[in-house]
Amino acid sequence: MTEQNQITILVVEDEPEQRKLIVQMLEANHHRVASAESVEEAIVYLKSQTPDLIFSDWKLGQLTGMDLLRYVRQHHPDIGFIIATAYGTITHAVDAMQAGADDYLAKPYQRQTLLLAIDKVAKSTQLKQQNRQLTSALSEQQQLVGLVGKAPCMQKVYTRVQKISATDATVLIGGESGTGKELAARALYQLSDRHNKPFITINCGAIPESLAEAELFGAEKGAYTGANTLKIGKIEAADGGTLFLDEIGELPLLQQTKLLRFLQEGVISRVGQNSEMQLDVRVIAATHRDLQAEVAAGRFREDLYYRLNVVPIQMPSLRERREDIGRLVEHFLNLHAKQYAVEPPKLSTQALKVLLDHPWPGNVRELANRIERFVLLADEEEMLNELALSTTTLSTSEFQLPESGIEWENFEKLCLQQAMDRHQGNRTKAAKFLGLSYKAFLYRLEKYQLV
Ligand SMILES: Nc1ncnc2c1ncn2[C@@H]1O[C@H](COP(=O)(O)OP(=O)(O)OP(=O)(O)O)[C@@H](O)[C@H]1O
Ligand SMILES: [Mg+2]
Repeated sequence: MTEQNQITILVVEDEPEQRKLIVQMLEANHHRVASAESVEEAIVYLKSQTPDLIFSDWKLGQLTGMDLLRYVRQHHPDIGFIIATAYGTITHAVDAMQAGADDYLAKPYQRQTLLLAIDKVAKSTQLKQQNRQLTSALSEQQQLVGLVGKAPCMQKVYTRVQKISATDATVLIGGESGTGKELAARALYQLSDRHNKPFITINCGAIPESLAEAELFGAEKGAYTGANTLKIGKIEAADGGTLFLDEIGELPLLQQTKLLRFLQEGVISRVGQNSEMQLDVRVIAATHRDLQAEVAAGRFREDLYYRLNVVPIQMPSLRERREDIGRLVEHFLNLHAKQYAVEPPKLSTQALKVLLDHPWPGNVRELANRIERFVLLADEEEMLNELALSTTTLSTSEFQLPESGIEWENFEKLCLQQAMDRHQGNRTKAAKFLGLSYKAFLYRLEKYQLV
């Protein structure tokens, strides 16, 4: 047995001579061995140590190996347990196996039989432990059909996706740009019974209003000028499968009305068609807009909003799950290295820190793009410069003035103070941090009497 799979065995035997013999034999086989002379002593040992395996005699003074076995199974289900029973007491062996022993040895046993039994039980115990680790790793899922991340807010997304993938419920996915809304829609589809049926995507923001109806619902031949052939719409093409209405917030009002009818009754008519077609389509919609605000502003039909929002899924921004940034960086380094058949370039600790601290207004998409370029160019300095540049131009999604307005001078003073605090009072660095010249910075410090 090698050092790596050396196991720890607790030997419980009340006969001193016998105990010594077993311990020596196991040690000679490179096992780590502890021993106890009673059930009580064994339990005391187990309070502070966890051996891989226990080899216990049946008869141990007042108590028996069965008492120890019951205790072990209740408190340490993963520890292997072998019991030695006296000659002619097969019922003991049966009882022990039923109470959860992994094996038994009938006395007298050969040295080799003991070693073999230990080997076998150690292996199956290891498997049991691995299995348990695997199950607990799964309960803290790191990814789901392409979605990487194990932050608690992502776990919620996974749970919801898994729960509703089996249903035909209409889902509305919200979240900022680049947070993985489309990826979540695809995960829903892939986990559903419809996974081998079509997945049809419509980007509602990309179809010109005049073509929207034919694009969505289809058109009969000759329905309008230029309609030389029958056109099958996207909704009809999704029959039996899944329809992904991306950027649903951009759908023109007129089309919203027609879509609502389809969602309510499951029927559509092509442009120029006199009859109706009954379809079987599961609908998933996504938008980066706040649809409730769109409803309030009269740009989105309230009834359609409720019809779509049967099950909402909110994709968290990357700022809300910063603990996943490192994991995503690694994911995209490997992904793009594989895509371009190159070795993933090494990232310095300093660069990784910059990536971890970046506000990522463009979320996972921005991160993926930056890493892709880094994989191609392997130019860390350029990546860092670009990141620094992008943080100096504030994007509106990360910085918004409060509704109530602000006191400009107070705000400016706060900025100056924070910049100084961040750089431990180093004025040159603080000035640079605010994008001010040293002179302009000093002037302001004096103005607010911060010098
Ligand atoms: N959790 C994630 N794990 C791995 N890759 C992700 C994750 N989220 C997003 N991505 C990747 O980031 C990019 C953007 O994702 P996606 O298109 O799904 O975002 P979106 O929310 O639909 O954005 P938009 O609103 O801009 O359309 C894709 O390349 C996608 O594969
Ligand atoms: Mg999208």
